[in-house]
Amino acid sequence: MARSVTVIGSTGLIGKQFLESVSEGEFKQVTAISRREIPELMGKSFINQTIHDFSDLEAMRPDLKTDILVCALGTTIKTAGSQEAFMRVDHDLPLEIARIAHEAGCQTFILISSVGADAQSSIFYSRVKGQVEAALDELGFNQFHILRPSMLLGERQESRPGEFVGKLILTPLSFLIPWKYKPIHANTVSDKIKRLASWTQPGKYIWEGKSLFHLN
Ligand SMILES: NC(=O)c1ccc[n+]([C@@H]2O[C@H](COP(=O)([O-])OP(=O)(O)OC[C@H]3O[C@@H](n4cnc5c(N)ncnc54)[C@H](OP(=O)(O)O)[C@@H]3O)[C@@H](O)[C@H]2O)c1
Repeated sequence: MARSVTVIGSTGLIGKQFLESVSEGEFKQVTAISRREIPELMGKSFINQTIHDFSDLEAMRPDLKTDILVCALGTTIKTAGSQEAFMRVDHDLPLEIARIAHEAGCQTFILISSVGADAQSSIFYSRVKGQVEAALDELGFNQFHILRPSMLLGERQESRPGEFVGKLILTPLSFLIPWKYKPIHANTVSDKIKRLASWTQPGKYIWEGKSLFHLN
């Protein structure tokens, strides 16, 4: 039976790709939470766009009454301005929003995390990603899917020179790179999210390397 889905991080590379690819009737209801309207979704009147400034997360509660919550929220330390600000976006917001959704009856949480996520890592970014995975696991969703992509490929508005150079070098050499570290297109991640939205078995699943590229 079709289920309802809510997306946070809807304006980002993964969130927008997923929402743009959703067809009418594929889900019982589709809600996109963001800080601003998404013009690319204007033609899709079946998607309920809701605007929040993320300072009052309780105000999101009605939009978090959903079967599936997809979290594609994230920033960079450079954009956020400090490690604390990064932690707020990549750890605190997903955790607080997930807690409200779980209370509201959400069964399935799909998190876009990152390759290398490890709560014990000496690298700050990887440690935060690992910590948020662990904290979310404690909430006890019926299904908890963690996707750990390496570098994401696709069209993004924000210019990230480091990423651009990385893509130029890595994409042609991709066949030499172990699956876990291969750059992956936003389309592929979006297709995987759709596949997981119809997953029936309960449990915690980590999708990385080859398993992230393949739909089964
Ligand atoms: N990019 C990569 O190569 C890469 C690699 C591995 C893992 N990841 C992870 O994958 C996830 C998705 O990545 P992505 O590249 O699709 O993300 P993205 O394009 O950078 O989009 C991030 C999303 O988070 C939202 N956001 C950022 N700061 C916010 C704040 N303070 N309050 C509310 N919303 C905020 C953005 O909203 P606004 O548009 O309003 O700013 C946007 O919707 C992230 O967790 C990222 O860390 C990324």
